[in-house]
Amino acid sequence: MKNYKPAPDLLKDRVILVTGASDGIGAAAAKSFAAHGATVVLLGRSIRKLEKVYDAIEQSGAPQPAIYPMNLEGAAPKDYEELAVTLEQEFGRLDGLLHNAALLGTLTPLEQYDLEQWAKLMQVNLHAPFLLTRAVLPLLKKSTDASVLFTSSSVGRKGRAYWGAYGITKAACENMMEIWADELETNTPIRVNSIDPGAVRTTLRAKAYPGEDPNTLRRPEEIMAVYLYLLGPDSRGTNGQRTSAQ
Ligand SMILES: NC(=O)c1ccc[n+]([C@@H]2O[C@H](COP(=O)([O-])OP(=O)(O)OC[C@H]3O[C@@H](n4cnc5c(N)ncnc54)[C@H](OP(=O)(O)O)[C@@H]3O)[C@@H](O)[C@H]2O)c1
Repeated sequence: MKNYKPAPDLLKDRVILVTGASDGIGAAAAKSFAAHGATVVLLGRSIRKLEKVYDAIEQSGAPQPAIYPMNLEGAAPKDYEELAVTLEQEFGRLDGLLHNAALLGTLTPLEQYDLEQWAKLMQVNLHAPFLLTRAVLPLLKKSTDASVLFTSSSVGRKGRAYWGAYGITKAACENMMEIWADELETNTPIRVNSIDPGAVRTTLRAKAYPGEDPNTLRRPEEIMAVYLYLLGPDSRGTNGQRTSAQ
């Protein structure tokens, strides 16, 4: 998968929603999906940052993307329903969903973990991907080949001291991915998997490892092969898998 060579038009005619598309891995994924022919819906909380990604995609000559501003921290179930209605009106279906947005929080021992931060991370990293998947399920069912991808982390696959709610929400997302995959395996066109990006040069990584030289890390653009594989038709039949980008 890591050496996968995607066809230039791999995602032609696919509509793919990317959360946290304003920065880091999500911005790179959105650009990469668009470069391979997808119409990308850019979801994020900062319109200004989303517009930069939008402009880059538009200027590249890729299919025109769409922006959907949404702060996952304060979003209620009705906001996800509204998003689904808008997508239905604009596109009629959804072929891909990348759950990428996440908050790191401050690395702290569980004993002293701040409860406000706990609630915030649960909301953005765990409740949001659940509510969003549920809201757009009817649209994914309208696709002939839909792929949902959850973003995990090494600390979601093995608990590690001080990673607190971040690690716990990532572990829960892995389990949620497996439940969705199992439930949707029969009688739907939807496959559901997770991806651990590995160490990548982003704001989140720099916050977690302030002493690290970012130049030793891969850039988000360099880890896109597995993302493209999982969002495109070549991964048909891959379901319920915990994958890694590096
Ligand atoms: N980088 C790594 O080494 C690494 C390793 C393992 C896993 N991951 C995972 O990879 C994914 C992407 O991380 P990244 O490193 O690219 O991080 P990043 O650069 O901090 O980007 C995170 C994205 O999520 C968005 N986001 C955060 N809170 C949000 C909210 N309340 N509502 C809407 N959007 C929100 C951010 O928006 P703003 O631009 O407005 O902040 C940004 O677009 C995450 O799931 C992360 O856990 C990363």
